[in-house]
Amino acid sequence: MNEQEIQKRRTFAIISHPDAGKTTLTEKLLLFGGQIQVAGAVKSNKIKKTATSDWMDIEKQRGISVSTSVMEFDYKNYKVNILDTPGHQDFCEDTFRTLTAVDCAIIVIDGAKGVEAQTRKLMTVCRMRKTPVIVFINKMDREGRDPFDLLDEVESELQIKVRPLSWPINQGQQFKGVYNIYEQNLNLFVPNKQVVTEKVEVDINSEELDQHVGSKDAEKLREDLDLIEGVYPEFDVNTYLSGEVAPVFFGSALNNFGVQELLDCFVEIAPSPRPTQAEERLVEPTEPKFTGFIFKITANIDPNHRSCTAFCKVCSGKFVRNAPYQHIRQGKTVRFSSPTQFMAQKKSTIEEAYPGDIVGLPDNGIFKIGDTLTEGEQLHFKWLPSFSPEMFKYIENADPMKTKQLAKGIDQLMDEGVAQMFINQFNGRKLIGTVGQLQFEVIQYRLENEYNAQCRWEPVSLYKACWIESDDDAELEAFKKRKYQYMAKDRDGRDVFLADSNYVLQMAQQDFKHIKFHFTSEF
Ligand code: G4P
Repeated sequence: MNEQEIQKRRTFAIISHPDAGKTTLTEKLLLFGGQIQVAGAVKSNKIKKTATSDWMDIEKQRGISVSTSVMEFDYKNYKVNILDTPGHQDFCEDTFRTLTAVDCAIIVIDGAKGVEAQTRKLMTVCRMRKTPVIVFINKMDREGRDPFDLLDEVESELQIKVRPLSWPINQGQQFKGVYNIYEQNLNLFVPNKQVVTEKVEVDINSEELDQHVGSKDAEKLREDLDLIEGVYPEFDVNTYLSGEVAPVFFGSALNNFGVQELLDCFVEIAPSPRPTQAEERLVEPTEPKFTGFIFKITANIDPNHRSCTAFCKVCSGKFVRNAPYQHIRQGKTVRFSSPTQFMAQKKSTIEEAYPGDIVGLPDNGIFKIGDTLTEGEQLHFKWLPSFSPEMFKYIENADPMKTKQLAKGIDQLMDEGVAQMFINQFNGRKLIGTVGQLQFEVIQYRLENEYNAQCRWEPVSLYKACWIESDDDAELEAFKKRKYQYMAKDRDGRDVFLADSNYVLQMAQQDFKHIKFHFTSEF
C-alpha cells in the first residue's frame, strides 16, 4: 500500500529569478490540477521590490506565502506537491532550504532575459544535491532570443546538458505554437485561452504542417528539428533522473501555452520520492517506519495566534496523527494532534501522510530547521550547508530592560533560519549575516512584535564569511592570532574568518597556504 502511494507522488519546487513567471506557471499548474477554477485566483506571494515596502505590507505578503507554502493536487494518477518558494531574492536562503525537501525542480527562465543571477544560484544547490531539473523557457509570446542561443546559455550558465523536448515555432507577434518533440505533435498557439490549447496530430513532413503554420515557418521548424536531432543525443530519462541532462520546454505561462505539455511530461518522467541521506545511513522511502525532517518554519502573522508552523518532509514510512515520534535533537517524544496539509489556499487536518508529502506541524518553539523526527532510531538527516551571507550588521540591544527577550528572540529567529549569526571572538558582539536588506527589517520587526525587544543595527562592511580549516594546527593558530580582530564563531562553534575585501582574502590565501577557506559551512 505504502509503495503505491510513494510511486504516485511528485514533490517539487518551481524556481526562477523574480519576474520570470514562477507565480504564473504555478497558477496554471493548479488550474490543470483542478485546484482553482479561474486564472488569477492565486495571489502572488511576491514582496514588492521597492525598499520602502512598509512593514505590514511585508507581513501581509509573508502571510500569503505561509498559506500557500505547499500546494497539492491530483493529476491523472499522480499526487503532485508543489513547494512554494519566496519570490523575493532577499529570502533565497528559504528557497535553498526548500530545495532540500524536493525530489526535483522546474526552472523557469524568461525567454527574453535568459539565465539570470538568482537562477544560477539556485541551480548550484540543485547540482550539489543532484536534483533532476526540467527547464521551462517562458514568455515565448514576446520577442526573445534565438532558442538555440538560449539552450547554449542554459548549458553553459547552469552547467548542465540540455535536451529540448518541445520547440517554438517563431516567437513574439509571430509565435505560432510549439512542436511537442516528446509526443511528436503540434500545439497551435491560441492566445489568452484559459484552459486548452489546440493540439494537432501532424506529420512533420506533411503539407498539413505548412497549412497550419505557413510554409516559411514549417520549413524553419523542419530544419530546426533536424539540427536538434543532429546536435542533441536522444532523450534518455535516466540522464534526467541522475541530474546530468535537463529536458527543456518552451511556452508562455501567461497564455497557458506549453504548460500542459510540461505537466504531462513532468508527471511521467519526474522521480517519485527519492531516498534521503542521513549521517548514519541512506533512508529509503519504502521503509516501514516513519522518518522526516523539518526544512522550514514560518511564523504566524496573527498576533493572537503566535504559534509557528514547522514543515516536515516525510522521508519514509507513514506519518500518523497522534502517534508518538522521537524528536532526535531534543531526545524527547512528541505527538501531533493537529498536523495539517495544504490544498491550494486551504489548510486541513490530516490523519496520515506518505513519503514525499509535507506535513505542517504546530510549533511552539520546539523545532529548529534541520531537525529529524523518527519512530526511535537515532538518525540525523544531512542538512544543507550555510552559504556565506552577503550583508553583515552587528545587532545591538536598544532597550537595556529587555536584554533577555532580545537574546531569546534572536536565538529563536536563528533557529527558524531567518538569518545567520556569528560571534566576533575579539569583541564578543553578535554579527547577523543576511542575503539582503529585507531580512534585517523582518528581524527587527519580529523582535519588536513577537518578543517585545528592541534592536539597533550597526552596519559592517565585510566581503565574505569564510569557514576555515587546516591540517596544520600551528598555521591555523598563527592565522587566528594574526587576524584576531576578524575571527568569529558560527552557531555550531566553527571558526569563521570575516574577510573585509576580496583582496584581503586573496592575501590571506597566499600567506597561509595550508589553510582552506570555504564559502559554505560544510566541506
Ligand atoms: P515570478 O513569480 O517569477 O516573479 O513572476 P510572475 O509569474 O509574477 O510574472 C512576472 C510578470 O511576467 C507578470 O507581469 C506576468 O504577468 C508576466 N508573465 C508571466 N508569464 C508570461 C508570459 O508567458 N508572457 C508574457 N508576455 N508575460 C508573462 P506583471 O506585469 O509583473 O504582473 P501582473 O500585473 O501581470 O500580475
